[in-house]
Amino acid sequence: MTEKNIQEIINHLKTSGFVYQNSEIYGGITNTWDYGPYAINMLNAIKKYWISEFVRKEKNYLIDSKIIMNSNVWKASGHLDNFSDYLIENKINNKRYRADHIIKDLFPQINIEKLNYSELEKLIKEKVNEYDGSKCNWGEIRPFNLMFKTWMGAIENDSSKTYLRPETAQGIFVNFKNVQRTTRAKLPFGIGQIGKSFRNEITPRDFIFRTREFEQMELEFFCLENDANKYYKYWIEKCKNFVQFLGINEKNIRIRPHEKEELSHYSKGTSDIEYLFPFGWGELLGIANRGDYDLKQHMKYSNESLEYLDDEGKKIIPYVIEPSIGLDRLLFALLIDSYDVESLPNNDSRIVMHLDYKIAPIQVVILPLMKKLSEKAKEIYDSILKNTEIRVLYDETGSIGKRYRRYDAIGANFAITIDFDTIEKNIVTVRNRDNMLQKTIKVDEIINYLNDAYKTK
Ligand code: GAP
Repeated sequence: MTEKNIQEIINHLKTSGFVYQNSEIYGGITNTWDYGPYAINMLNAIKKYWISEFVRKEKNYLIDSKIIMNSNVWKASGHLDNFSDYLIENKINNKRYRADHIIKDLFPQINIEKLNYSELEKLIKEKVNEYDGSKCNWGEIRPFNLMFKTWMGAIENDSSKTYLRPETAQGIFVNFKNVQRTTRAKLPFGIGQIGKSFRNEITPRDFIFRTREFEQMELEFFCLENDANKYYKYWIEKCKNFVQFLGINEKNIRIRPHEKEELSHYSKGTSDIEYLFPFGWGELLGIANRGDYDLKQHMKYSNESLEYLDDEGKKIIPYVIEPSIGLDRLLFALLIDSYDVESLPNNDSRIVMHLDYKIAPIQVVILPLMKKLSEKAKEIYDSILKNTEIRVLYDETGSIGKRYRRYDAIGANFAITIDFDTIEKNIVTVRNRDNMLQKTIKVDEIINYLNDAYKTK
C-alpha cells in the first residue's frame, strides 16, 4: 500500500477494538473518542517506556498533581491572558471557526505565524467567500480562551470559578520546591508527570489528533542557565529516538524549530517533532526552552521563594527544558505508521498492523486448531498469563485462516496454533505476523521464544 487512506484507517480502528465513539448510544459528542482494550494496552506500554526512558534511566522524579488547581496558577502562568485561539464567525451558517485553520485549509502556502490577528481577519474577509459548504459573511475576529471553566463547591461565582488544567506542566512548577526539598535533588534534574489535560478547542478535528480532553507525558528538566542550550538539544534528540524506538519510521518524522513569531508566551525556543500524517505534517510533540519564566511568575504571584541554592550558596532560579508529548497523537501516529493492506495470492488481501513487539496490543494469541484441543490450549494460555507479563489472548472461534486475519489486523505479533502434534509430541506452530512464516517449537520453549523476539526487536 503506498498512499494511506485516513478514513479507511479510522474505520478500521473504530471497528476493531481500538477506538469507540464517546457516548455513542446517545449519538456521540463532537470529536470525542473512547479507547477500547487494544488501544489501552498500547497506551499502557507507551507510558511504561516513557517512565523508563525519561524518568528512571535519567534519574528524574515522577509526580501526580491535580487537574483542578488554585486559579491563581493560571493567572501566573499566563494562560488566563494568553492562551487563546482566534475565532471568527460566519454569520450565514452561524458557525465559528479558528481563523488560522481557514487559512491553512485554503491557502496552505501562507505562513500564518507571521500574521497578526487583524491581518488574518482582513485576509479572510477579502478572500474567503465560501467555506465549509456555505457562503460567507464574516464577523469580527476574537480571541477565545481555551481553558475549560468550572466552579468549586456549592456557589457559582467569580471566587469559586476555576479551570481544568490545559497542560500538566504547571502542576510540576508549583511543586518544584516540594520535590527538590524532599528528595534533596541537585541541579540538573527533571520532574515528570503523565496525566489528562483539557482544552476547549474551537474545532477539534482529525480524529484523535486534536481533542478537547487528551493525555500528556511532560518532563520539566531544571538546569543552570548556561546549560540550557545543551539540554535543549539533548532532549530533542532523546524525543526523536524515543518515537523511533517505539516503531515510527524515521522517514515519516522531522524536527521543526519554531520561528520567532510562533513561540508561545513562555518560550525562548521550541522545536516540534512532526509526523507525516495522511493529512500532512502535524505536531507530535514539542521541546521548549521555557527559561526561568514559570518559576519567576509563580514567585511573583505567590510571594513564595522557588529559588535554588547553588554549590556556592548563591540563590538562583533554574532554567527549564520541557519535552512535552501528547499520548493520543503518538498513539495515532504509531497506528497509522503500522497500518498496511497487503495483497496476497488468489486476489486475496489482508489488513496488517506492523506494530513493534514492545507496544503491540496483543503480543501472542493462542489458537487451538479445533475446539477438541481447547483443554491443552487453555493450559498453555494460563501458563503464559500466570508466569509472564506477555499480552496474550485465547481464541477458538472461526476457521484458523480467519483467526490469523483477525489478529494480523490488530497487530498481534505471533499466533501459536495448538494441533494434535501438541498432544502427541508436545510441539506447537508459531506464526510470525509480518512474514506469515510458521515454525514448530516445543511447548516448553514458548516463553523463551517470545522473550527472545522481544529482545531482538
Ligand atoms: N506544556 C507544554 C504544552 O502543553 P503544547 O505544544 O501546547 O505544549 C504539547 O502541547 C503536546 O500535547 C502537543 O505536542 C500534542 O502532542 C499534545 N496536544 C496539545 N493539544 C492537544 C489536543 N487538543 N489534542 C490532542 N493532543 C494535544
